[in-house]
Amino acid sequence: MNNESIAVLDLGSTKVTCLVASSDGEGMAIDGFASVPCRGMRRGQVADMPEVSRAIREAVQKVQQDLEEDIESLVIGITGAHIEGINSQGLRPIIPAGRKLTHQDVLEVINHSRSVMIDQDREQIQCLPREFRVDGQRNIRQPVGMSGTKLEVLSYIATGAITSLQNVEEAVNEAGWKVEQMVIQSLASGIGVLTPEEMQLGTAVVDIGGSTTDIAIFVNGSIAFSACIPVGGSNVTSDLSQLLKTSPEEAERLKLASGAALAERIDEKESVEVIQLGQPVARPMQRRVLCEIIESRMREIASLVGKKLEDSTLGTVLPGGIVLTGGGSAIKFAGQIFEATLPRYRVRVGEPTLGTKLGHPVGMATSVGLASFALQCFDEFSPADGIVPWRDRVKTLFSMLSR
Ligand SMILES: Nc1ncnc2c1ncn2[C@@H]1O[C@H](COP(=O)(O)OP(=O)(O)OP(=O)(O)O)[C@@H](O)[C@H]1O
Ligand SMILES: [Mg+2]
Repeated sequence: MNNESIAVLDLGSTKVTCLVASSDGEGMAIDGFASVPCRGMRRGQVADMPEVSRAIREAVQKVQQDLEEDIESLVIGITGAHIEGINSQGLRPIIPAGRKLTHQDVLEVINHSRSVMIDQDREQIQCLPREFRVDGQRNIRQPVGMSGTKLEVLSYIATGAITSLQNVEEAVNEAGWKVEQMVIQSLASGIGVLTPEEMQLGTAVVDIGGSTTDIAIFVNGSIAFSACIPVGGSNVTSDLSQLLKTSPEEAERLKLASGAALAERIDEKESVEVIQLGQPVARPMQRRVLCEIIESRMREIASLVGKKLEDSTLGTVLPGGIVLTGGGSAIKFAGQIFEATLPRYRVRVGEPTLGTKLGHPVGMATSVGLASFALQCFDEFSPADGIVPWRDRVKTLFSMLSR
């Protein structure tokens, strides 16, 4: 792989995606990608190590073959209920007072903000500066080159359970690759689908995946909150399978072919053919009933999202509203059911800008965002000297601010 390209891995609960992207001067170009079905991840945690490693191996090998290049290490998207975010502050006196601030000052003040106490079984994954202050002047995005006597930073620190992170790393190593860096998936999804204006205004990105729904709030151009709900599109499928007494495969097929999240929009006269377990032939049922089952689960997901947004305190004012993404948002009327359940927010469904090249755009927000973020933070990902394990590298990724 050439120096300016980056390989990322989205370990989803329904699929593993490997994507290689590079900077093409103006933006990002996708050089190759592969998505492989995988049932080994559950709610962001490795539940079946051999299955996850197999899927990683298949996905990465496929991209390597297509590109005729070797991939050495991967930037991994990480999620799960074990991920937590804390807001922290750092301070650095500038000596001699009044001199110009350097890149090193910025790294040091961010590092200072990282000296917070966290439980012994947890570790920091990322530290993202949200705002700098020079001599008390607020809302500075790029302090390098300014003069001052005191530099402060407000930063967002994502932490995760050590064992969960180790299992992900183990699965990647087992498949034959090294971890370049871990990045939280909700941050990546936001970068994948939000416009710069939405990031500035205050917007929540909600990625409805298979077994999780990842939430992040962006404001003033940076992430300020993230959360993960252990419910997603797979729950919709299992509700259908249980209530209609079908196999999971038949339930998934019905959802994709005839599903919708707002039952009242479906004509009462429409019917769908359902193959129930133990029945030799398909039988007709009202399509509206199918959609009522879907609607009830989608409403639950929307109200759980609303609760998380309210808990965050930032969620009460979100001029940019909610942007839905992830495979679960591809269901018909997903935006409308969120608007009906959470009337205070305006809602849109977002796809990554490069999505049309990817076949399944909504499920690709995380991969595209991971690549975009990783390319912007390339310098910080690259250790100054020698091979350094990802845990020991500078995790103060602040290139994002110069976007
Ligand atoms: N067109 C569609 N209509 C309805 N649901 C869809 C559609 N396409 C995909 N899905 C659903 O999206 C879910 C998978 O979404 P996605 O690919 O974003 O998940 P993932 O990244 O593998 O999982 P997670 O993010 O939870 O780890 C599945 O439940 C699938 O049924
Ligand atoms: Mg996902």
